[in-house]
Amino acid sequence: MKALVTGGAGFIGSNFVHRTLQTRPDTDVTVLDALTYAGSTTSLDGVLDRVRFVEGDVADAGLVDRLVREADVVVHFAAESHNDNSLLDPGPFVRTNVVGTFTLLEAVRAHGVRYHHVSTDEVYGDLELDDPERFTERTPYNPSSPYSATKAGSDLLVRAWVRSFGLRATISNCSNNYGPRQHVEKFIPRQITNVIDGVRPKLYGAGLNVRDWIHVDDHNDAVWAVVDRGEAGETYLVGADGEVGNLEVVRLVLELMGEDPDGFDQVTDRAGHDLRYAIDATRLRTELGWSPHYASFRDGLAATIDWYRANEAWWRPQKEATEARYARTQQVLGRR
Ligand code: NAD
Ligand code: DAU
Repeated sequence: MKALVTGGAGFIGSNFVHRTLQTRPDTDVTVLDALTYAGSTTSLDGVLDRVRFVEGDVADAGLVDRLVREADVVVHFAAESHNDNSLLDPGPFVRTNVVGTFTLLEAVRAHGVRYHHVSTDEVYGDLELDDPERFTERTPYNPSSPYSATKAGSDLLVRAWVRSFGLRATISNCSNNYGPRQHVEKFIPRQITNVIDGVRPKLYGAGLNVRDWIHVDDHNDAVWAVVDRGEAGETYLVGADGEVGNLEVVRLVLELMGEDPDGFDQVTDRAGHDLRYAIDATRLRTELGWSPHYASFRDGLAATIDWYRANEAWWRPQKEATEARYARTQQVLGRR
């Protein structure tokens, strides 16, 4: 099978490439990635000689058309992915997430290629802490941030292209991923690398927000389950029953790294901060037979900490610019 993987130099996309070449070595992989601040070919170290890497933009219609024409399946990960950045500068989110997806859909439509769209649980908005219902495939869209609004917009384009043009497309909406090669702007790697640097972790607000954590390999196995066995035109939610509050995550990172669990700082909260995400993945489990391999968040987090300790050369180049950006974000929030 020839797979075109967009965003394959980012966090989830690069893990997808590594896992695909381990578990399905016959797959012929082409990666299309613009190598923004969030992408690096170092994330493909060890497999770069086994893939075709194309540096380019998913909104470049000519390039996309040429690559899609040669593929059996397109798995679309490329996106601007960080909520905090979307609050400072939403423009790139509209361009990559909405216009980029539109560009891919048009190429897929022209060449009749199977398409899988990787999306997020954030399109459903957020839940109350005591809400008895979790997100399901039937939950109405209600995004909060510029990031999640552009992901919701891209999902709706996919649905419209299925209905109007009969596209062979599926969508997966996953909860928060953790694991190796995640950019240090994100919550868990930011705190791990802070602790390595002797800096106190930064918790937004009171840390009451809850995220539904899933290991990136479990997410990527679910993506293949949907590509292989999912029904065209359908949506599948991906989650591993991994709800943990942010305060607990920070305390666990500190404990696992041999530090005082109370040794963190509380900083100004994210604007419009979603309170809780929680996924009901019954459909994925029962219809497609998927289940997660990482049963324990604590063990998965410990392995992730080991990865960041062993791979400082991978993350060090990102760290200074990321923390400078966070200092600016805190100034902007402080002026509100
Ligand atoms: P990431 O920011 O780590 O990686 C994004 C990749 O896309 C980078 O390699 C970047 O260079 C590339 N890219 C950005 N703009 C591009 C463009 N215009 N053309 C080509 N490439 C471009 O993101 P991630 O966390 O790996 O997320 C991947 C996908 O999974 C996204 O669609 C995101 O919405 C979705 N998702 C993420 C999570 C999560 O917890 N991180 C959860 C659910 C869904
Ligand atoms: O739910 C899926 C989504 O998960 C994906 O669609 C996004 O691409 C991905 O970035 C992630 O979004 P979040 O906003 O939930 O992730 P983030 O890592 O930015 O933050 C996780 C939680 O931690 C959130 O409640 C904010 C909080 N946080 C974050 C940072 C960076 C902190 O308390 N301190 C921090 O320094």
